[in-house]
Amino acid sequence: MKIAQRAQRIEPFYVMEVAKAASALAREVAHTSQPMIFLNIGEPDFTAPPLVQEAGARAIAQGNTQYTQATGLPALRERISDWYASRFAAQVAPSRIIITAGASAALQLACLALIEAGDEILMPDPSYPCNRHFVSAAEGSSVLIPTTAEERFQLTEEKVRSAWNDKTRGVLLASPSNPTGTSIAPEELQRIHEFVHGQGGMTLIDEIYLGLSYEEHFGHSALAMPGELGQSVISINSFSKYFNMTGWRLGWLVVPEALAPVIERIAQNLFICASTVAQHAALACFEPDSLLEYERRRAEFKARRDYFIPELNRLGLRVPVMPDGAFYAYADCTEAAARLGVTGSWDFAFELMKRAHLAVTPGRDFGQAAPEKFVRFSTANSMAQLQEAVARLKVVLA
Ligand SMILES: Cc1ncc(COP(=O)(O)O)c(C=O)c1O
Repeated sequence: MKIAQRAQRIEPFYVMEVAKAASALAREVAHTSQPMIFLNIGEPDFTAPPLVQEAGARAIAQGNTQYTQATGLPALRERISDWYASRFAAQVAPSRIIITAGASAALQLACLALIEAGDEILMPDPSYPCNRHFVSAAEGSSVLIPTTAEERFQLTEEKVRSAWNDKTRGVLLASPSNPTGTSIAPEELQRIHEFVHGQGGMTLIDEIYLGLSYEEHFGHSALAMPGELGQSVISINSFSKYFNMTGWRLGWLVVPEALAPVIERIAQNLFICASTVAQHAALACFEPDSLLEYERRRAEFKARRDYFIPELNRLGLRVPVMPDGAFYAYADCTEAAARLGVTGSWDFAFELMKRAHLAVTPGRDFGQAAPEKFVRFSTANSMAQLQEAVARLKVVLA
């Protein structure tokens, strides 16, 4: 069978190999004194809070399960609009909000609507691996720009300006970022968007982890930029991370008013709509009790970060810049790998799995600049598991 070039351009997700090996080993060591600890997983260990579960069950029981409009339930678009106003002081009309099957579908819709064959999209290296494939599925190509810890692993206006050429169509950023948990400073983002917008390009910003932001300076939505800037940026978001609803497959994107009918047309054809049950459940995310619970969980994620990152640094797994959001630590494992007698993050990850029954994600998926140097730890795991992980690391790295 002839496979399309488009499909062949999609690279394998190397992290799955690590995950598969970790699951196989987990079965073997399940009943030993050291069962597997999974610090490779990028999803909250919490599930949807009670009111959300109840709303989902009610939707099923009452038969609220037909298709919705392609843009989503009007009431949900309104709740999200209110949330932007109350949490981020951003005025976002519900008509600019389109409900999707997770941030993944939102990213695909934006790429399909805006990228032409041969267009180039600038993104930081390291960044979320699927972004490259959303761009290539739309027949564009991604240009990875190496970033430094001093830049919080984000693009700067200078770098965007110097990489810009006739083929460049825009930038795709994530703030806070996966794998680093670091955000772009609001003033830098504004400078980038002013430049990109001035070139007639697009700024796509993935704010999926913005709800899980721990520092006032960084916790701002790009949609709160003043005037035309906030109206012209495209923001991607999701119920997966802050709202703890990964498997419900629900997210959204915010687009400039004029783009909304275009996205609606593509969404109607490709997806019809996002899950109706999930949309009814998500309405309950914005009830005061649910929001209180989400804030309690955000504090828990912050406490884990505050415990775990200094411990990694003390162990020689240096995290070059303190994450300000999400639940990741991108740590330099050069020294630690040498102590285990291996070189590079790939071998380090497997050695750690074997010796300490700890699963982590090597840098290979996230970019090309320095993937051998870094591993990603996820702190989306209980404090007790994180403490046990540190205890095991202390033994193997002694
Ligand atoms: C930066 C980033 N964007 C998008 C996604 C996809 O999320 P969703 O579950 O909303 O499709 C992820 C998932 O890990 C992510 O880390």
